[in-house]
Amino acid sequence: MVLNSLFSKETTVGIDIGSSCIKAVEIEPTARGWELTNAAVTPTPSEAIKEGVVINIVDVAHEVRSLLKEAGIRATGAICAISGSQVIVRQVQFPKMPEAVLRKSIKYEASKHISSSMEDSVVEFEIMDQPEDSNEMNVMLVAAPREMVDSRVKVIETAGLEPLMVDIEAFSLIRALVELAASDEYLHKTVALIDMGASHTDVNIVSRGEFALTRNIPIAGNSFTNAIKSLTGASFEEAETMKLQMANDQPLDAMDDDNRNWKVVQPLLDELIREVRRSIHFYQSQFPEGDADTMVSKVVLTGGTARMLGMEAYMTSKLGTSTVVADVFKQTAISTQRIPESFIREHGPVLAVGTGLALKDSMPEIKKNAA
Ligand SMILES: Nc1ncnc2c1ncn2[C@@H]1O[C@H](COP(=O)(O)OP(=O)(O)OP(=O)(O)O)[C@@H](O)[C@H]1O
Ligand SMILES: [Mg+2]
Repeated sequence: MVLNSLFSKETTVGIDIGSSCIKAVEIEPTARGWELTNAAVTPTPSEAIKEGVVINIVDVAHEVRSLLKEAGIRATGAICAISGSQVIVRQVQFPKMPEAVLRKSIKYEASKHISSSMEDSVVEFEIMDQPEDSNEMNVMLVAAPREMVDSRVKVIETAGLEPLMVDIEAFSLIRALVELAASDEYLHKTVALIDMGASHTDVNIVSRGEFALTRNIPIAGNSFTNAIKSLTGASFEEAETMKLQMANDQPLDAMDDDNRNWKVVQPLLDELIREVRRSIHFYQSQFPEGDADTMVSKVVLTGGTARMLGMEAYMTSKLGTSTVVADVFKQTAISTQRIPESFIREHGPVLAVGTGLALKDSMPEIKKNAA
């Protein structure tokens, strides 16, 4: 045991701290390619996260520690992520200036584009390109409430890990499903990656492998559970059980018209799909009509709510765009032979963000290995 730990390689674990579930993913580069060495999912302590901020750090950290222990994850460093309506990710134009100068004035420059208070925000940026024929440059600007970032860093530290980085969920999804995809199919198209979680749904549009737009819709799994809760007068936990039963009993497009729970869930799901369609149309409206390259040709779903039986077919028909639930590990050619297939089948779609996080640190090594 002691020898083992002395000689064990230092690895990084991707930890996706969702409002409903915490997911941990560990991936190692091996001689045969990338390998999923460990993955685990556990419920988030109830009411522990409010609007993306972990308000109960001690209990969440305890849950993270138990999760890693149970899964046999011995990583020393962790990467986590933030998302939600208060996380702003935007491509903006700044006057050309050296990176060091922009870094000094970033909050001032960002305040011209972002309405939230810069005092309480963490602001980051990356210079994307500097066209020669312009005195402006394209910058990817990211801003988030400081307490959202700090509370997640605190969770990682309290769980006994070194917080290596805080990523944006949208970037993590793009990394896992597009940049490091097994095929370059999505690198030539415009696709929408839609993460349907518990508290919100994120719509991320990726055009030819590049991040284009992210939008947050406040309708997701909890909205459905709360609708059933109001209808039946049951507790949240009981309503959650009823929802899961309904969602796994019959495919969505074959749901019984008399099903009372479906009657309150369907209008919300349809509203969510209308919002998705609005986001896609908003993106497409920036380009000349009929420009095939900018048309969203595929929708890729992740997150627990995407697991509702028949979601692919339901979305495809309501949206009019071909929709698939992400097959995260096949899509990224990560071997899963060490993990039971039933676990992957059950949890695959919810592990997408964690997979992108786990891949962030090992990217150069993975790329070298893959070459
Ligand atoms: N088989 C299923 N059918 C329907 N809903 C499901 C199923 N499995 C999980 N869910 C729902 O998915 C949600 C959890 O998904 P996920 O783990 O992606 O959310 P999260 O990351 O914790 O939340 P968020 O990112 O919004 O903070 C819950 O609302 C849960 O009820
Ligand atoms: Mg989530």
